[in-house]
Amino acid sequence: MMVDSYILAIESSCDETSAAVLHNDRVLSNIIATQKVHEKYGGVVPELASRAHQQNIVPVVDQALSEAGVAKEQLTAIAYTQGPGLMGALHVGSSFAKSMAMALDIPLIPVHHMRAHILAHFIRESDDQAVPSFPFLCLTVSGGHTQIVLVRSALDMEVIGETIDDAAGEALDKAAKVMGLPYPGGPHIDKLATQGDALKYRFTIPQIGGFNYSFSGLKTNLLYFLRDQKANDAAFIERELNHICASYQHVVTEYLLARYAAAAAQHGVTQLALAGGVSANSALRAKLISLCAERNWQAFIPPFSYCTDNAAMIGICGYQQWLAGHRGAWSDAPKASWSL
Ligand code: KG4
Ligand code: ZN
Repeated sequence: MMVDSYILAIESSCDETSAAVLHNDRVLSNIIATQKVHEKYGGVVPELASRAHQQNIVPVVDQALSEAGVAKEQLTAIAYTQGPGLMGALHVGSSFAKSMAMALDIPLIPVHHMRAHILAHFIRESDDQAVPSFPFLCLTVSGGHTQIVLVRSALDMEVIGETIDDAAGEALDKAAKVMGLPYPGGPHIDKLATQGDALKYRFTIPQIGGFNYSFSGLKTNLLYFLRDQKANDAAFIERELNHICASYQHVVTEYLLARYAAAAAQHGVTQLALAGGVSANSALRAKLISLCAERNWQAFIPPFSYCTDNAAMIGICGYQQWLAGHRGAWSDAPKASWSL
């Protein structure tokens, strides 16, 4: 039997204040207020993020409801990001969700941010949309995480490999910073790389066992390379920017996918999904598609709007949990770190 639901979802784990309304697995609205205040600091300033969430949360939720054409009295439940993320930022979303759910006397559904990134694949955009079938693998690559996840069901996931230091997004953002690009640098590298030669400069692929990743050496490799080049040629970065971006992005994406393909082969899984902010990267998307075509595997790549942080993914995850009967408690506290 189809259970009908209207779920309001709230995301506030980092620097995006977002609210969405879902009717079952369909998104009626997905409002995202990106906090610009962090740009001049070259990274997210936690205290400023909490303040901006406080300013944004009411107007963002209001807009999500009005754009969806759903009155708050129609809501079935409220899903919110319980973690992982910045503690102060999580407090804003969770306190708001609790108060609203209590006032409306409806259930609260706490959601794991990284599970939500993965389940974004199940947001239904059309009736004939292909969605992954279980089990599948998901490479979740964001500013804070890099994980290969074996997804056995919507509620049963296992991390089979992850970064032991920096996340892939962090590796791109930090590289962008040393090249003088604005924060977050990932999208800038992506754009500039389209004009560059990806094989012009060679960076060393990190060597580390299993299906884990390490990005800190790669970042140091770039730093020393730029330092040495600049010593002879002060205008090196400026002149070669597109090629450096293309070459660095090349090594990061090749590395990500080489490990991912090895994990798929070992686990005998032929459906490979991408999730998280870095899955917006055009090279990573194109390479996964050609890798899967070569091996007769299936690639699943979320639409751009569901790659970076958004509440629609919290909503679809909340919807799956709601179907399974998961409900939160009023005493649930945000979790800054929370394993999958
Ligand atoms: O998932 P997300 O929005 O936030 C976290 O949970 O971290 O991911 C943000 C990360 C940032 O590191 C940003 O640079 C990266 O995603 N990103 C990209 C692109 N768009 C966003 N990296 C490479 N290419 C892009 N097009
Ligand atoms: Zn995220």
